[in-house]
Amino acid sequence: MSHRPTAGTEAPVACDPDVLRSDFPILSRTVHGRPLVYLDNAATTQKPVVVIEAEADVYRRYNANVHRAIHTLGEEATAAYEAARAKIATFIGAPDVRGVVFVRNATEALNLVAWAWGRRRLRPGDEVLLTPMEHHSNLVPWQLVAAETGAKLRFIPLLPGGELDQGALARDGLLNERTRIVAVTHASNVLGTITRVAEICAAARAAGALCVVDAAQSVPHLPLDVTAIGCDFLAFSGHKMYGPLGIGVLWGRPERLEETEPFFGGGEMILRVELECSTWNEIPYKFEAGTPNVAGAVGLAAAVDYLRACGGMEAIAAHEARLTAHALEVLRDLPGVTVYGPPAPRAALAAFNVAGVHPHDLAQFLDRDGIAVRAGHHCAQPLMRHLGVVATARASFSLYNTPAEIDTLRDSILRAREFFHA
Ligand SMILES: Cc1ncc(COP(=O)(O)O)c(C=O)c1O
Repeated sequence: MSHRPTAGTEAPVACDPDVLRSDFPILSRTVHGRPLVYLDNAATTQKPVVVIEAEADVYRRYNANVHRAIHTLGEEATAAYEAARAKIATFIGAPDVRGVVFVRNATEALNLVAWAWGRRRLRPGDEVLLTPMEHHSNLVPWQLVAAETGAKLRFIPLLPGGELDQGALARDGLLNERTRIVAVTHASNVLGTITRVAEICAAARAAGALCVVDAAQSVPHLPLDVTAIGCDFLAFSGHKMYGPLGIGVLWGRPERLEETEPFFGGGEMILRVELECSTWNEIPYKFEAGTPNVAGAVGLAAAVDYLRACGGMEAIAAHEARLTAHALEVLRDLPGVTVYGPPAPRAALAAFNVAGVHPHDLAQFLDRDGIAVRAGHHCAQPLMRHLGVVATARASFSLYNTPAEIDTLRDSILRAREFFHA
């Protein structure tokens, strides 16, 4: 059965991994002679044929630079690039397509906000409010900008179970008249904690602070609407949502983007250039200096179509919630296994450790069984310290994973315990 979307005419199908798996060529390969069990989706997801084909089709049929060419190929490439922007705006509930800025990934999107908005506006004594579970992408840029501006970083604490202590915003005066920016992850890539971002954004707005959401782990898994969230900026990567590598999105409230200075200078982002000074193009082009990743944007739009054809984000979230519940149950039942993070609702992943087995050794052992999991600090070193570990293993799920794959993971972990005499 094909799941190639055809101009929105196909009736939505339920998210059935047994059916959808055939759309992903890589899932039929073997690793060390075993069928691939790909459980590293929080790092990057695999790509369905429709995405691979959409990207290849750009190069095959209408590769050209966008916006500037006055010829048919250029016009077709521009139309496809701008149609991709519009599709992504609709997908995230953005009423104005000008809010969608194409970047390389979530990291670049977050840096753009930190450097172009934060660095210009933060003053000594201002505060930037983060959480201890941020990915380095939403921590290090703020550290750099705080060091330049004299702003101070503060952190909303975690509760012992791994939830964010959102009550501390008001109770401990964390959000106050000095707070200029609140930048939080929507879904932790380690704990799976889902942040109640709409609540945080409302509180930030009431305090006159800007609200930035790192949605790298939520856009691929949950229905999401930037208008309902009420944030000022939202960042995500295409490659974690079945799209190509090298394309990501910064969504910004248009009035915020208008007031933000450019991040990169060069072609495309200017209106008029003199030898000594320049004026800027309108948003979003003001932030898209140089030749963009046209094929990446078109591939990302194909991924959005694909998510719809798989039943939509509600169906995908329901499937992944079932998988995650199964994984948590299975892992928590295993002897010597510690699973980190709160109970449901949580993101589609489980970070865990097996007593007496280093997570790197475990990942290598699992790989011999064809199972791909992540092991390490997951770009969240402060969180590792908070948990009192140097590293964890992490299994992360997507629309094509099955409960049977989680059972394969369980069996392999049991064999690893024996092998390592744990
Ligand atoms: C929560 C979170 N934020 C940001 C990122 C950075 O994404 P990228 O490396 O695609 O920029 C990741 C990647 O794992 C992540 O999990």
